[in-house]
Amino acid sequence: MPDYTNPFRPGAGHQPPYLAGRQSERQQVLKLLEQDVVFENALITGLRGVGKTVLLDSLKPSVASENWIWIGTDLNESASISEDNIATRLCTDLSIATSTIVVSALTKRPMGFGGEETEEANTLTYERLKWIYDRTAGLPLDKLKAVIEAAWKALSITGARGIVFAYDEAQNLTDHAARERFPLSLLLDTFQSLQRKGLPVLLVLTGLPTLFPKLVQARTFSERMFRSIFLSRLSPDESREAILKPIEDTDSVRLSDQSVDTVINLSNGYPYFIQFICREVYDAFTRRLDKGERASVPVADIERKLDTDFFAGRWAKTTDRQRDLLSVIAQLDSRDAEFTVQEIVEKARELAIRGFSSSHTNQMLAALGSQGLVFKNRHGKYLFAVPLLAGYIRRQHPIGT
Ligand SMILES: Nc1ncnc2c1ncn2[C@@H]1O[C@H](COP(=O)(O)OP(=O)(O)O)[C@@H](O)[C@H]1O
Ligand SMILES: [Mg+2]
Repeated sequence: MPDYTNPFRPGAGHQPPYLAGRQSERQQVLKLLEQDVVFENALITGLRGVGKTVLLDSLKPSVASENWIWIGTDLNESASISEDNIATRLCTDLSIATSTIVVSALTKRPMGFGGEETEEANTLTYERLKWIYDRTAGLPLDKLKAVIEAAWKALSITGARGIVFAYDEAQNLTDHAARERFPLSLLLDTFQSLQRKGLPVLLVLTGLPTLFPKLVQARTFSERMFRSIFLSRLSPDESREAILKPIEDTDSVRLSDQSVDTVINLSNGYPYFIQFICREVYDAFTRRLDKGERASVPVADIERKLDTDFFAGRWAKTTDRQRDLLSVIAQLDSRDAEFTVQEIVEKARELAIRGFSSSHTNQMLAALGSQGLVFKNRHGKYLFAVPLLAGYIRRQHPIGT
C-alpha cells in the first residue's frame, strides 16, 4: 500500500514541496552580491502568505555558494523596542558565525601591556561581541559599527566575500520618537555608514508592504539604499507548477485540467491558498478509486474551511461600523486592486449606506490599517492587506446585492 503523505504545506514559513516561480526575484537579490562596493540592499515586500519567508530561506544556500556568510532571523516585536535590543539581536546572530573563529591575532593586546590573552578572548563569542559593544565609546551607532567591523575582520580571514544580514518581518522595527528610541534608524545608519567605508555587508529585509514607507519615513536615504522587490501572486503557469509538481509521482492523486484550473481560480495564484486548497483536495482525492481523475474540486467545502480557518479570526476583531465599510469596499470594482477614499465615499452613497464622509472614512481606514486589514501604498491608495479578503467579505456580509 503506497504511502499517501500529503505533500502540501500551508503554514507560515513552511517550505513548499515545490517552490514555483521567483527566479527573477532571486536573481535580483543575488545580483546585489556582485557590487564592488555595496550601496544597494534588498527590500522584499508583499502581502501575508505570498511567500516572503520561504523566498528568503531559498536564498540562503545560493548566498553561501557565492561564499558570502548568511546571518539573520525573524525580527519579532521584542527585538524592536530599543537600540540595545537590536544590538543584542545582531550580536547574537553574528556570534553564530564568529564564535568558532580564532581571532587571537586581532585581539592581542599591544606590546607592553603584559599578560597573555585568555582563551575565551580568542574567539568572537556573543559575550565578546557584546563586550565590544559595551566598551566602545560614543553613540549606539559607533558601538554597533565597532561590533560589525570586528566580526567582519574575523570572518574575512576565512576567505568569505561578505556578510548578508537577512531579517524577516522587518515591519516590526519601529522608531519610537516619544520614547526616544530609534532602533530602525540605527540599523539604517549603521549599514549606510559601514557600506560607505567599503565593508561588504548587505542588508536583506522582508516584510509587509508597510515596510517601505516606514523605512523612508525613518531615513529618506532608504529610497536609494534599497532595491525594492514587490512579491506578488504566482502567474497561472507558475501556479500550475506549484500544484502539479508535488504530485507528479504516478502513485499520487490525479488532477484533471479542469481541477487544476479550479484551484488556480480559487487561490488566485496566492501561494498560501494554493497550499491550503491543494492539501484539502489531496485528502479528498486519495480516498477515491480513480485518485481524483474524474472528481471535481469540492469548492464549497474548501471555501467554507478557508473562511473558518483563515478569515473568520480576522473578521471577528472588526466592529459593526468597520464591517459596513469593508463591505462597501468589497463592492468596488477595484476591490482586488487599489482603491481610494473618494471611491469608497461614492460607493457608500450609491448603496445608501450613511455616515461615510471622507474624513470619517480616512480615520477608519487608518484603524483598519493598524489591524492589518488594509494598507496604504506609496501612492496614497489603499489595498486589502489580506489576499482574497474581498471575496470573503462578500460571502460573509452581503450588501447592496
Ligand atoms: N513560490 C511558491 N511556490 C509554492 N508555494 C509557496 C511559494 N511561496 C510560498 N509558498 C507557500 O505559501 C505559504 C506562505 O509562505 P510564506 O513564505 O510563509 O509567506 P509570507 O512570509 O509572505 O507570509 C507557505 O505554505 C509556503 O509553503
Ligand atoms: Mg513570513
